[in-house]
Amino acid sequence: MVVLTFFNHAGGVAKTSTVRDVGYVLAEQGRRVLLIDMDPQANLTKWLGVEDDIALEQTVYPAILGSNEEGAEDAELALPAPMRVHGMDLIPSHLNIAIIEREILSVFLGVLRLREAVRKLEGYDAVLIDPPPSLGQLSALAVVASDRVVVPLPTNRKGLDGIPTVIKMVREYKKAARDLSIALFVLTQHDRRTRHDRESHEIIAAQLPALAPISTPLASRPAYYSDAQVQGMPIPVYAPGSEADLEVRQVTSELIAALGGRL
Ligand SMILES: Nc1ncnc2c1ncn2[C@@H]1O[C@H](COP(=O)(O)OP(=O)(O)OP(=O)(O)O)[C@@H](O)[C@H]1O
Ligand SMILES: [Mg+2]
Repeated sequence: MVVLTFFNHAGGVAKTSTVRDVGYVLAEQGRRVLLIDMDPQANLTKWLGVEDDIALEQTVYPAILGSNEEGAEDAELALPAPMRVHGMDLIPSHLNIAIIEREILSVFLGVLRLREAVRKLEGYDAVLIDPPPSLGQLSALAVVASDRVVVPLPTNRKGLDGIPTVIKMVREYKKAARDLSIALFVLTQHDRRTRHDRESHEIIAAQLPALAPISTPLASRPAYYSDAQVQGMPIPVYAPGSEADLEVRQVTSELIAALGGRL
């Protein structure tokens, strides 16, 4: 089993879209995939078409802060039974998991709690974690739980500006998870018609491969991405055979290659 967190503290860089679509392709290829929504916005949950009211007990909360039941031991902290969506398992999110940001601070070695819970899982080939756009405790829990980090990165100014912080934070998180490293930079929202995006892509291609491989860019396709969200479908389900679908499949095979046979 490999645990991957799709981390970038910057907002709107396609973390959630990439988790949804790469997770879908891995599952379609026959791998057993668990997605964990760690963002109080719960976009991943909604974009996979989940319309049910989610209770806190169905989220990561019980694995991190336990149940309120009297006599429950920390050793019993575990993830709840997942939901089934598009061939994948999903631990959904709810706005109230934001409580974790504050409550975890009073727990000794609390940042390791998701890591411990994830390592008790059995029966999965890949666990993909979608953190919120922040440098808070939810992101720290998510990244520290993972074996490798995947960094979604738009090919524009915002993407370039965020890189130093991403690298610095991965170094910080390694203090709690020593073997952590970046597996792949997934280039996102690429608009090759603009010179700005082409130049940003060139800078990324010149500088980042020294740190970790970079993917083929996922092109900017606002109509597909916003419509797929509304329909609650991953891109390969919404637009099978489209260029958008083929790109997602290409990036997924590049991720598998970057993991060097671990997946
Ligand atoms: N290739 C693309 N083309 C066009 N729009 C895209 C593409 N990828 C993502 N988007 C859109 O960009 C927005 C941000 O994407 P997404 O929510 O996946 O990013 P995020 O990093 O998870 O955001 P947040 O930081 O809020 O969690 C969404 O509206 C999404 O539909
Ligand atoms: Mg997101």
